[in-house]
Amino acid sequence: MARLLVTGGAGYIGSHTAVALLEAGHEVVSLDNYSNSSPRALERVSRIAGRPLTAVEGDVRDAALLKRLFAQQPFDGVIHFAALKAVGESVSKPLAYYDNNVAGTLALLQAMQSAAVTCFVFSSSATVYGAPDELPITEQAPIRSTNPYGATKVMVEQMLRDLAAADAAWSVVSLRYFNPIGAHPSGEIGEDPNDIPNNLFPFICQVAAGRRERLAVFGNDWPTADGTGVRDYLHVADLAAGHLRAFDFARRRRGFTPVNLGTGRGVSVLQLVHAFEAATGRSIPFSIVERRPGDIAACWADPSAAARLLGWRAERSIEQACADGWRWQSRNPDGYRGEAAT
Ligand code: NAD
Ligand code: UFG
Repeated sequence: MARLLVTGGAGYIGSHTAVALLEAGHEVVSLDNYSNSSPRALERVSRIAGRPLTAVEGDVRDAALLKRLFAQQPFDGVIHFAALKAVGESVSKPLAYYDNNVAGTLALLQAMQSAAVTCFVFSSSATVYGAPDELPITEQAPIRSTNPYGATKVMVEQMLRDLAAADAAWSVVSLRYFNPIGAHPSGEIGEDPNDIPNNLFPFICQVAAGRRERLAVFGNDWPTADGTGVRDYLHVADLAAGHLRAFDFARRRRGFTPVNLGTGRGVSVLQLVHAFEAATGRSIPFSIVERRPGDIAACWADPSAAARLLGWRAERSIEQACADGWRWQSRNPDGYRGEAAT
């Protein structure tokens, strides 16, 4: 049993990871400013896991709050999800992204250092590979950024690498997520985008629910089998399980370790649409439109380091992710703003 600080614990991936941590017997303290989430997610996390967690409302950039938190209770490690994540918004509001994601992580690491807490799992992203030269993508591929959001992940990884090199007490795992989709099978927690979803899966869910008329498929002239973009979609519950493994690894092994979390399989936009239709019985009307600026043709992981180092591999199918995501969407049409799911 360990006590963990989970920043961004009420968010999409944080809430699923909190369930997995509680179910594994760990104690969880969530620190979230609810800028992109609701405290109701945490109530549901406790309900699913059948155990309480501690919810602290606050900002990771608040050094005084962090100092108090670390002084109040000993932590065995930190899993750091809290960040802004919208690529388009990061282009129009770069300073908000550098402030939240880079300055926020810096403040957190400084507080950890003062409290001698040196076990850290970071939410990185496949975005650090930019447009990849080779597929599948290994952790040795060059790191680069194509937008301010991606730049914040690259910068934080650099900070973590330098920190682990300077002080052998640190153990840092940087998890480079590919494309998480789906929801907890209970239908109680899931992704709850504020406005028009930027990402494919929540958009498909909203079309299925009748909230949007049709999906716009961004180009069918990519150099892929059916011409639509290819990504490595993984079930969010598999991703959550990966954090548990990463934390166990970080407790045993020092240094900086980047690890891809993906399935190793590429799935096109149209394949995902058809899998969703097959798994849910809903039809998803779509139109082909222009390519989205900044998109890449294809991106999927070499997940072998995760298997070798963490003993983790993605287990759930795309169809399961579609069925679980649809359960969440149909039971909570307005996300956490609507009625309780039960
Ligand atoms: P999310 O927005 O659902 O969760 C982030 C949480 O952090 C939210 O609850 C938000 O309120 C909180 N937060 C943001 N800034 C904060 C701050 N300054 N102080 C305290 N809390 C703050 O996003 P998510 O999809 O769960 O993503 C979690 C992490 O994973 C992020 O770091 C994101 O960049 C990374 N990531 C996500 C994806 C994806 O497709 N969802 C892919 C790769 C990487
Ligand atoms: N797509 C559509 N229509 C939509 C939305 C997306 O056709 O309405 C297509 C895109 O063109 C792409 C695929 O669906 O081919 C996936 O797009 P997403 O926006 O869901 O995912 P991306 O891979 O483009 O980006 C996401 C996050 C990034 C992160 C990356 C890797 O937005 O921040 O996954 O983790 F870096």
